[in-house]
Amino acid sequence: MKQTALITGASSGIGYALAEIFAEKGHNLILVARRETNLITLATRLKKENGIEAYVIPCDLSKPDASKSLYLEIKGLELTVDLLVNNAGFGDFGEFHELDWQKQADMIQVNITALTQLCHLFLPEMKKNEYGRILNIASSGAFAPLPFMSVYGATKAYVLSFSEALAEEVKPLNITVTALCPGATETEFAETAQAEKSGFFKRKMPTPHQVAQYGYDKMMAGQTVAVHGLSNKILVTLMRLMPRKIVAKTSKHMAKGE
Ligand SMILES: NC(=O)c1ccc[n+]([C@@H]2O[C@H](COP(=O)([O-])OP(=O)(O)OC[C@H]3O[C@@H](n4cnc5c(N)ncnc54)[C@H](OP(=O)(O)O)[C@@H]3O)[C@@H](O)[C@H]2O)c1
Repeated sequence: MKQTALITGASSGIGYALAEIFAEKGHNLILVARRETNLITLATRLKKENGIEAYVIPCDLSKPDASKSLYLEIKGLELTVDLLVNNAGFGDFGEFHELDWQKQADMIQVNITALTQLCHLFLPEMKKNEYGRILNIASSGAFAPLPFMSVYGATKAYVLSFSEALAEEVKPLNITVTALCPGATETEFAETAQAEKSGFFKRKMPTPHQVAQYGYDKMMAGQTVAVHGLSNKILVTLMRLMPRKIVAKTSKHMAKGE
């Protein structure tokens, strides 16, 4: 029987590429994001090309009751989620006190609360079925304080810490949790975060497909932390060894493109 993957943020970037990869591997899909048209076009193509089922559920995960409504809608369709991909997320670049408050609050809701609640809602059925794979998209920025992206960096540090702890908890249940930590990737992320001019996005970036393929492989292998790319792996190792104060200063220079 085909497994079903729920992918949030499947309307663009890494989530879109993940949907393509899951479909190629023969998994049925539940695709979630706000841009319904993107999801419908993707689902229609993936069904035709891969002979899978693909359901579209438009949903704004910044709304406090969104995760519960999404869960109830999936239960209403009598679907079981075997593979949960918490990919939806966004950032914001600038001096914290000048950034729009609502955008920070929405970011915390999407990047942290929705991700956490979806794990909480779908874990009981994974436990019952004695199988589950969860992929939470963190960031290489999760390992450092990120001046000028301070809230975003903190949300991703949460995702990393939460995923590592949860992975240990659910290991005996044949459920794995993977925190995927990409570096800067060629998606709509920089534009949404108004961070195109920051130093983070001024280097050659991998495609979303490269990051998604890596994430899929590590998720299915059950690896807990997966940092994409050699230069990010080196950076993360250095950040773990250096004093936090120096890491914060270095991140600040990188953010400014110095
Ligand atoms: N690109 C990078 O440099 C980079 C680096 C490290 C980590 N990441 C992480 O990778 C993940 C995917 O981002 P991406 O790079 O692929 O960027 P992207 O192209 O901007 O995709 C973000 C996805 O999240 C969805 N999303 C945003 N707000 C949402 C909301 N309120 N409700 C539901 N869905 C929402 C978007 O869909 P709608 O707009 O249609 O709702 C979109 O599908 C994010 O968690 C991001 O933090 C990205």
